[in-house]
Amino acid sequence: MVRIGSGVTAAMALLLLAGCNKRETAPTINSSMTEVMEPTAQTIWDIMSSAYNDKGDGLDAAKLTAADWKALDKASRTLKARADMLALADHLVVAADNQPILGSQAVGTRGEIGAAWDAVSAREIQSRIDAKPALFAQKARALADAAAQITQAADAKNTARFYAVASGLDEVCDSCHEPFWGTDEPPPYPQGKSATASPAI
Ligand code: HEC
Repeated sequence: MVRIGSGVTAAMALLLLAGCNKRETAPTINSSMTEVMEPTAQTIWDIMSSAYNDKGDGLDAAKLTAADWKALDKASRTLKARADMLALADHLVVAADNQPILGSQAVGTRGEIGAAWDAVSAREIQSRIDAKPALFAQKARALADAAAQITQAADAKNTARFYAVASGLDEVCDSCHEPFWGTDEPPPYPQGKSATASPAI
């Protein structure tokens, strides 16, 4: 009895802790993108680019070193862990007040840069995610799957498999950016606009 009782209490305490913890410390989506997705994906892309064969249509296994495979294993595991977090979290905050969203500098210049960029405010992204949490989770799972496949390829030192997944990684990122962020390209900076307005040199 006592054991069951304390076990239940411990489990409940853990759940409560996990719940509180999640609410207080879950990183914003913006932090996940800038601090985890971008650097880990960059590591993967850099290693892929460094190993192209002469024809440029695949990779040359001889150009991938043990250190590369190790770095790929590490980056892909970090990427997967964060994608899993995005897939499982029940509520995610897009950005903190002091975190600028790439492209949001164009918001507020409605009509001058183009309506397409009005979509990138944190509030708009938040409402899109809140409206379609299942789609967001599905896109995050797709990224977690791709990352897991890169880990498998890295651990097996399977160059063809690595190339097959890594060369499609950008599309996996984009397929979430398109519906929720609305863009995968940074919009022109407002300064660019005034430069056009002033006499061109
Ligand atoms: C499950 C959805 C999802 C996936 C998958 C995803 N992203 Fe994002 N990403 C977002 C959202 C939403 C934004 C817009 C919010 C923001 O800019 O912070 C964003 C924005 C970004 C930004 C701009 C951050 C900024 O400064 O505003 C970068 C860089 C980025 N993602 C990189 C990546 C890379 C690289 C991948 C793939 C390895 C990826 N993302 C996969 C949802 C996703």
